[in-house]
Amino acid sequence: MANLSWNSSFMPLLLFLLSLAIFNHRHFYGFQSFLLSLSNGREPPFFSHFTSNSPPGHGDLQASLNDTAKLSKRVKVGIIEEGLARARNAIRHAAIARNYSSEKVEKFIPRGAVYRNAYAFHQSYIEMEKRFKVWTYKEGEPPIIHEGPGASIYAIEGHFISEIEDEKNPFRAHHPDEAHVFFLPFSVVNIVQYVYKPNVSDYWKPLKRLIADYIGVISEKYPYWNRSLGVDHFMVSCHDWAPHLSDANLQLYRNSIRVICNANTSEGFKLGKDVTLPEVHLPDGLLSQPVRHRSLAERTILAFFSGGSHGYIREILLHHWKGKDHEILAYEYLPKGLNYAELMRKTKFCLCPSGYEVASPRIVESIFMGCVPVIISVNYPPPFGDVLDWSKFSVQIPVEKIPEIKTLLKGISERRYRILQSRVLQVQRHFVLNRPAKRFDVIHMVLHSIWLRRLNVRLSY
Ligand SMILES: *[C@@H]1O[C@H](CO)[C@@H](O)[C@H](O)[C@H]1NC(C)=O
Ligand SMILES: *[C@@H]1O[C@H](CO)[C@@H](O)[C@H](O)[C@H]1NC(C)=O
Ligand SMILES: *[C@@H]1O[C@H](CO)[C@@H](O)[C@H](O)[C@H]1NC(C)=O
Ligand SMILES: *[C@@H]1O[C@H](CO)[C@@H](O)[C@H](O)[C@H]1NC(C)=O
Ligand SMILES: *[C@@H]1O[C@H](CO)[C@@H](O)[C@H](O)[C@H]1NC(C)=O
Repeated sequence: MANLSWNSSFMPLLLFLLSLAIFNHRHFYGFQSFLLSLSNGREPPFFSHFTSNSPPGHGDLQASLNDTAKLSKRVKVGIIEEGLARARNAIRHAAIARNYSSEKVEKFIPRGAVYRNAYAFHQSYIEMEKRFKVWTYKEGEPPIIHEGPGASIYAIEGHFISEIEDEKNPFRAHHPDEAHVFFLPFSVVNIVQYVYKPNVSDYWKPLKRLIADYIGVISEKYPYWNRSLGVDHFMVSCHDWAPHLSDANLQLYRNSIRVICNANTSEGFKLGKDVTLPEVHLPDGLLSQPVRHRSLAERTILAFFSGGSHGYIREILLHHWKGKDHEILAYEYLPKGLNYAELMRKTKFCLCPSGYEVASPRIVESIFMGCVPVIISVNYPPPFGDVLDWSKFSVQIPVEKIPEIKTLLKGISERRYRILQSRVLQVQRHFVLNRPAKRFDVIHMVLHSIWLRRLNVRLSY
């Protein structure tokens, strides 16, 4: 499938958590230092040791972290980083021994080609459960802080916020001194809903001010932001505007972990620092489970898409395929009497083109329907790409090849299709939204993505 392979902008992800293979020293900075530690047994460098050669965005760190050295003495020193060092070690060992070590009985053992390195991932997950603690700032009032949408295409934002704030959540830190990461619990969706006024001239300004003020408050009141310049802080949002609004504070934009659905690498999304949040569409707010999947014989449609002509990629897709072919069904609006979910269940390949923004809820929908996703996007690193090898259970078609969709999909043998499809079923568990969250489900996979990014840096406290 050479012509369907992932494009080269995915390389950093391919390297990440991958294997003990070759490590290119040019990549030796920030987030990839964990990789280095995997490959040669060393620990990542402290952030404060970066030279002026450090990449854009971390340039301000080394200067200012020295200034805050005094500050960091006031907070608990050592324990956090010691624990992370042990976790890195355990992951390294698991990757070499190709087995895990756990104090508990492991009911689910990730294995198979869908994982870039199943052993490293499993151990990393075990280590996360053993020690990862998240502190959520208590400042701020709902609905803009501490509350988010629970329905529609941005639902995962609200569910994540309320899950992480749940008293019973085992990952909750009881005191900020025991936290590995700090959550900024504002909801961009609610900020937009409650504060956005379309008829004022600079409509971004009040929205950005809210975010800037929030960080102002917590960095004034506590030492945690200043001591790391935001590196161990994260925000979560599925709203299209989240990347843009996050530049309300430059350190948030450049240093913090931004967990966002609109993960467009040509709009400042940084692989290895930021996290792609999957868009989980809950039309009525009800949680759903993957459907019992249909046999291959019942999947009579080769490919299916239905959706508005949003953005240039969909325009090209609809231009070439809308109403043109009986095997590639592309609709702008679904004709009356046809059922979207039912069609997906009868389809072999579900087309998931980007819309106005890179993310598409169709990716998770097609995984739930047991349909092999066909991702048509540019500069979009798919969710959990540091753990999951998307080339093993999905197809990527570059925008230029949209006219060849039929030829490309028909070129996939039935045998190959069966393999891809069985792997789609295998990854379903990682996209299920449960409340409370369950092991290896979508919320815990998001947390694991954050955990990995925290593992990638050492902070001098
Ligand atoms: C910053 O701190 C590091 C060690 O923490 C030290 O080696 C370095 O000289 C300091 N740089 C400046 C400009 O003070
Ligand atoms: C892997 O580790 C588990 C628990 O540590 C152990 O029970 C199992 O026998 C090991 N498997 C292999 C193949 O070494
Ligand atoms: C702007 O819109 C709001 C409601 O959306 C309205 O209350 C307000 O009067 C409008 N302002 C102007 C200047 O039109
Ligand atoms: C953090 O830094 C900012 C800007 O330098 C400063 O205004 C604030 O007081 C600092 N916070 C603490 C807790 O010292
Ligand atoms: C990603 O960002 C680039 C640069 O701003 C933009 O041109 C492109 O349209 C974006 N992609 C999508 C699908 O919106």
